[in-house]
Amino acid sequence: MRVSLAWKWVVASLLIESLMLTLMVMKNVDQLKINLSTQTNIRLDEQKILLKSALVAPLVQMDYATIHAILNETKNIQTVDYLVVVDNQNNCISSVGWNGCSKLPPTEVDPFSEKSLKDQRFDTNIPITLFSQSLGKVYLGLSTKYYVQAKKEMITRSIVIALIELILSAILLIAISKWIIKNLVKLTQSADAIAHGDYAQRINLGDSKEIFELQESFNLMAKNIEKNIIDLKYLNKKEKKLFNELKSQIEKNQEQDIMIKHQSRMVIIGEMLNNIAHQWRQPLSAITVQMSSLKLRKELNLLEENEIENTSDSIMKYANYLSKTIDDFRDYAKDYSVKKKYFNIETSFTKALDIVSASLENNFITLNIVPCEDELVVDGVINELSQIFINILNNSKDILIENKVKEKIIEVKFLKEDNQIIITIHDNAGGIQDNIIDKIFDPYFTTKHKSQGTGIGLYMSAKIIHEHFAGKILVKNENIEFEKTTYKGAKFFIILPI
Ligand SMILES: Nc1ncnc2c1ncn2[C@@H]1O[C@H](COP(=O)(O)OP(=O)(O)OP(=O)(O)O)[C@@H](O)[C@H]1O
Ligand SMILES: [Mg+2]
Repeated sequence: MRVSLAWKWVVASLLIESLMLTLMVMKNVDQLKINLSTQTNIRLDEQKILLKSALVAPLVQMDYATIHAILNETKNIQTVDYLVVVDNQNNCISSVGWNGCSKLPPTEVDPFSEKSLKDQRFDTNIPITLFSQSLGKVYLGLSTKYYVQAKKEMITRSIVIALIELILSAILLIAISKWIIKNLVKLTQSADAIAHGDYAQRINLGDSKEIFELQESFNLMAKNIEKNIIDLKYLNKKEKKLFNELKSQIEKNQEQDIMIKHQSRMVIIGEMLNNIAHQWRQPLSAITVQMSSLKLRKELNLLEENEIENTSDSIMKYANYLSKTIDDFRDYAKDYSVKKKYFNIETSFTKALDIVSASLENNFITLNIVPCEDELVVDGVINELSQIFINILNNSKDILIENKVKEKIIEVKFLKEDNQIIITIHDNAGGIQDNIIDKIFDPYFTTKHKSQGTGIGLYMSAKIIHEHFAGKILVKNENIEFEKTTYKGAKFFIILPI
C-alpha cells in the first residue's frame, strides 16, 4: 500500500518535533540540577558558618544542653533532616533527627548521587575548629525531597506542554499538507486528463508565488503538448496522404512496367517476324524461280533426266533452311527467360546477328566488327544482351534507311579495360539531334511513325543493362572513318563491370 505524501510529511515533522522537545526537557532537567546544586552549596556554606559560630563556645565549655538546644533550633529548618555533634574523639555528644548516638551517620556523599536521590537525603559534615584546633564535627543530613519534587514537576509540566505543542503542530501540519496536497491532486488529475487525450486541460491553483509558477509551467507544458499533438496529427495525416500517393504511384509504375514489358515482347516478336521475312525472301524467290523453270521446261518438253530430282533436292534444301530459320527464332524466343550464367559476350552478339544479319544484308549495310583479343565473359542471361544488340542494330538500320545514306556502315568494337568491358556500336547515319539526345532512353520516346516504333527499345535496353548487368549505356555523336571518308554518326557505349 502506498502511504500518502501528506501523512509521511506529518509523521516526519512530528517525529522531529518530539525529538527536539525531549532534548529540551533533558536540557532543562540538567539546568535544574546545576541551579539546585549551586543553591545547595551556598546554603550549606551559610549553614556551616552559622553552626560553626554557634557551636564553638558550647563545645569548648562542654555545654551539652546548649548544643542540644542549637541542634533542635537548626532542625526546624525544613531541609535539615538530622544533626549529630561529635567531639574531637568522635564521641557522640548530641543528635537530633538521627536515631541516637548508637551509630554515626555516613560521611559526605554527592547531593545528587543515586543514593542521595533514592534516600531523599544527602549526608555531609562540618568540622568545628578553634585556632586550628579541632573541637569536633557536626554531621548534617539535608533533604533532597524538594529537588526530586521540582524535577518531577518540571518533567510533568514539560510533557504536558510538549503534548499540547505536538497536537497543535499536528493540526497545523495536516492543514498545510492538505492545502499543498489539494494542489497536487489537482495537478495529478489534470496530468491524468492530458494522458487520456484531453489536451485542452488547464489548471487554476491559486495565486501564491510558487503555486502560481507551478501552475504557469504546467499550463505551458499542457499547451505545448496540445500544439505538438495537433502538429503530429497534421503530419500523420500528411504522411498518410503522401503514403497513399506514393503507393498509387508505385502501383501505377508497376502497371506501366508490366505494360512496357508486354509491349517490348510484342516489339521483339514484330522484329523477329520482320527478320524472318528478310531471311525467307531469298530462299522463297529461289524456290519460286526453280519451280517456274521446272514447269516451263516440262511444257516445252525440255526436261532432262534427273532434273526433277535435282530441283526437288534443291527445293528441299531451301525448305530445310526455312524450317531451320523458324527453329532458330523459336529457340531464341524460348531461351529468353533462362537462368543467369557466365557467357561470352561475342557469342551473345553472334546470336543477335543470326536474327538481324539478313535484314542488314538486304538493306546493303556493311557490318564492321572489331573483336577483342581477350575472352569477354559476364554473368547474366545471354539472350537479354542479344536483345540489346538487336535493338541498337535495328535503330541504326532504321535511321540509315530513313536518311538514305549511300554507304551504310555499322562498326562494332569489343574492348576490355581494367575492370570493365566496353562494347561500342557506331553508325554513319548522321547522329542524334542535340535537342533529343537526352530523351532517347525515356520510355515511349520515339521519332518514328506509330506503326514503326514504340519508343521502348532503348528504354528497355538501358533498364536491363542497369538492373541485370549493373552496367550502363551511353550515347555520343562521333565521326566515323570509312574508306577515307569521314561520316557523322551515333555511337552507343555499353559498359559492363567484371
Ligand atoms: N543510331 C541512331 N541514330 C539516330 N537516332 C537514333 C539512333 N538510335 C535511336 N535513335 C533515336 O532514338 C529514338 C528512340 O529509340 P528506341 O529504340 O527507344 O525507340 P524506337 O526505335 O523509336 O522504337 P522501338 O525501338 O520501340 O520500335 C528513336 O526513335 C530515334 O529517334
Ligand atoms: Mg528501337
